[in-house]
Amino acid sequence: MNANKALWEEGDFTRIAESMRESGQDLVGKLDITEGLQVLDLGCGDGTTALPAAQLGAEVLGVDIASNLVAAGNARAEALGLTKCRFREGDASDLRELGDERFDLVVSIFGAMFAPKPFDVAKEMVRVTKPGGRIVMGNWIPNDPTLVAQILKISSSYSPPPPEGFVSPMAWGVEDQVIERFTQAGVPEERISFERDTYTFNYPGTPSELVAAFRSYYGPTMNAFEAAAVNGREAELQAELEVLFNEQNTSDGATSIPATFLRVTVKR
Ligand SMILES: C[S@@+](CC[C@H](N)C(=O)[O-])C[C@H]1O[C@@H](n2cnc3c(N)ncnc32)[C@H](O)[C@@H]1O
Repeated sequence: MNANKALWEEGDFTRIAESMRESGQDLVGKLDITEGLQVLDLGCGDGTTALPAAQLGAEVLGVDIASNLVAAGNARAEALGLTKCRFREGDASDLRELGDERFDLVVSIFGAMFAPKPFDVAKEMVRVTKPGGRIVMGNWIPNDPTLVAQILKISSSYSPPPPEGFVSPMAWGVEDQVIERFTQAGVPEERISFERDTYTFNYPGTPSELVAAFRSYYGPTMNAFEAAAVNGREAELQAELEVLFNEQNTSDGATSIPATFLRVTVKR
């Protein structure tokens, strides 16, 4: 069993993604999408960034390891009549079914960062990008004080130590590590740039209800609750997450929580 695939298929990330649609659309609006641009969205989920890119005229392929999210993405594209946006199953660390230099833009927003073998991921992203094309990644930043980095930090403190050789997905939020990965894939360092950007989680319910959604549907949080249950610490984990979500909420009556991420741009 592929643990990475199981992690994302056991939950239902569509239920979290619904709170990320506006930021996805805003981000895509900054990517200079033009009619007919060939776009690959890696770790695309159910299309939070793939669908707005297609609505701007791009021809989009979404690739994700989770079959349930691929099906959800295809259903959303069909419902919107987006015939040039399709989703298929695949692993960001091995894109052998995709030809070299095929895409003008490879996007991966909190997607490829979760794939094991980060050096292979960087190599594959570079390989499938056309010379003159771009790679744009959105990566959560380790120890950042905002929402997602804190969820992942709290969750890991309730989980058993990772296996020997495990590389944290959060390393994709460290500039030096990103440079090392892309330079090893053949990209000169001066073609790699970084910006801090913000994604806002907008949810119609209370912060505690959003915690409940993470607990029920977000693979990494589901695993943390499973691990906490082994030691009878579920209530402690729930309380810690509720404090975090409530402290970071900026809305009265609903939930709006901004989270900082590292936007990486690589010019091929
Ligand atoms: C946090 S979600 C983000 C989804 C989407 N990019 C979005 O912004 O809504 C992480 C996504 O990465 C996918 N993923 C994890 N590991 C992957 C891998 N090795 N290859 C491709 N996709 C992967 C998961 O299935 C999940 O859809």
